[in-house]
Amino acid sequence: MDEHIETSSADGIMTIRMNRLDKKNALTSAMYAGLASALDKAFAHKDIRVVVILGVPGSFSAGNDITDFLQVAMSGKRESMAVFDFLERIIMAPKPVVAGVDGLAIGIGTTMLLHCDYVVASDDSLFRTPFVDLGVIPEAGSSLLAPRLIGHHRAFALLAMGEALSAEDARQAGFVNRIVPSADIEETALAVAGDIAAKPPEAMTITRDLVRGDRTDILARMREEAELFGERLKSAEARSAFLAFMNRRDTAAS
Ligand code: COA
Repeated sequence: MDEHIETSSADGIMTIRMNRLDKKNALTSAMYAGLASALDKAFAHKDIRVVVILGVPGSFSAGNDITDFLQVAMSGKRESMAVFDFLERIIMAPKPVVAGVDGLAIGIGTTMLLHCDYVVASDDSLFRTPFVDLGVIPEAGSSLLAPRLIGHHRAFALLAMGEALSAEDARQAGFVNRIVPSADIEETALAVAGDIAAKPPEAMTITRDLVRGDRTDILARMREEAELFGERLKSAEARSAFLAFMNRRDTAAS
């Protein structure tokens, strides 16, 4: 397991923490592989009923690591498949997934939330998907799921324009259930998971399956986006946006 992905289990709940504080939880391919493997364990273990995904104080995730993107952009090599392994698992998750978001939720830090069953966010969280600004396109099936969940206009502002949503915006949009102070985020996410874990598991599974519905179209859209995303990573637009991010301090200083 990658050193930046930590797991612990108690009382039917597996907690998965993304823990790369110095990089605001930017996600590397090794971290995606760690997330996928943690989810595999949670889904396979008969005693685990709920998964909780957490970040670090102030940062749920700053999105995909841009140095990883830049490497693909410059080398022309194919992107690592680990991100898709993670996405497949969260899209098709057979058990409830709760997220506790404190602070930044950027890129995949926001799109993964669309696949969770319950999201608790701190009052200072910020949701943003600057895909187009980076010369790339939405991922995680979000181009299908976001308009379905939050309506075309809000999905366009989020996914195409990169407009930021506050915690209250996200609650009104419908993909955040509850807003709490930062200090209470983990306790609340675990309490929600505890409530889910305490319910009759068979009825919970059947109800959740009915509520989520068939997800094969979302999986297919995720794969379609992945092809397009892979092409975009090698575009001049993307390369110059990644370089601008890497060089932003030099530019600001000059
Ligand atoms: N990829 C790689 N490194 C990242 C990163 C990312 N997505 N997000 C943050 N980091 C790194 C920064 O390079 C910096 O590293 P350094 O200290 O070695 O220079 C460190 O994390 C802290 O980030 P910093 O930019 O100094 O913090 P900030 O509070 O000023 O800004 C963000 C935080 C997240 C707003 C800003 O870093 C950012 O815009 N990141 C890119 C987000 C993004 O576009 N993600 C991809 C979406 S598809």
